[in-house]
Amino acid sequence: MQAEPRTAESRDDERERAPFPHKHLLGIEGLTRRHVETILDTAEAMRGISDRRIKKVQTLRGRMVVNAFFENSTRTRISFEVAEKRLSADSVNIQVSGSAMAKGETLLDTLRNIEAMRPDMVVLRHWCSGAPHFLAHHLQSNVINAGDGNHEHPTQALLDAITIRRAKGRLDGLDVAICGDIAHSRVARSNAHLLRLFGSRVRVSGPGTMMPRGAAEALGVRVCRSLAEAVEGVDVVMMLRIQKERMGADMYPSDREYARQFGLTREVLRHAKRDAIVMHPGPMNRGLEIAPDVADGDRSVILDQVENGVAIRMAVLYLLSGASEVPAE
Ligand code: CP
Repeated sequence: MQAEPRTAESRDDERERAPFPHKHLLGIEGLTRRHVETILDTAEAMRGISDRRIKKVQTLRGRMVVNAFFENSTRTRISFEVAEKRLSADSVNIQVSGSAMAKGETLLDTLRNIEAMRPDMVVLRHWCSGAPHFLAHHLQSNVINAGDGNHEHPTQALLDAITIRRAKGRLDGLDVAICGDIAHSRVARSNAHLLRLFGSRVRVSGPGTMMPRGAAEALGVRVCRSLAEAVEGVDVVMMLRIQKERMGADMYPSDREYARQFGLTREVLRHAKRDAIVMHPGPMNRGLEIAPDVADGDRSVILDQVENGVAIRMAVLYLLSGASEVPAE
């Protein structure tokens, strides 16, 4: 007997029953704890592929992924590309400097033209908060937010979560300090939403000029006056980059003053638990928000974060694609 053709309605029904019932990944806000656990567990299953001699499976063969990066990126862009190659998807990369947007074409027109070439997924990084949500509303493809303005960076929070879970054995009931330029940080926002799902307690610290108004209520975090207070007794210290590209006037007196008050040094790290881990999403300003010996020290899991990023992005691509089996070992 011939199978019934899949309709838009039957695809919606399938999605509702799937372990990850979303068409897009636009943010952590709106996901449940179970959804996050599904992504992390799938990423664990994907990790082994990167250890094989031939680091490739056929899972997304014939699928096309457009990586549209309208803001600088090293880790996220390369990590998505590696993840797509490991799953055998066809990747197409566009950047604003090499696209018709530089001639005045709108983001929607650019992406609609690309969609006419029938991609299955679009990975978007954009300086404008909400840009991926706007596209998701207008495009047929799955849309993955690779960082939008100072709003969200969901795959960063997911790779941070798997890194914490691997180091601490859990995500529940931890104390986590997120320190630095909170106001401009999509990483802080996505992490705060995710950690709250697991009942972990988040403290934030940074210069008053880099603390969003109403941070405590909006993010469900405790605002600390000093870095030492934020770090006191925590399991995880997450340092953030000063995002000069998102600032208007100077928001702190000098680099030296910032490093003195808000830079993570070995002395400040002594306030944390003895087995606390140190994280940073990158790129780092060494000697500013983090001392080089801390960034490279034995408590640092910064390169683990990068490694885990590939597995997380493979998991997200796989789950959104609707592919039916996690590739076997
Ligand atoms: N963590 C992060 O988003 O780094 P990139 O800007 O290099 O992608």
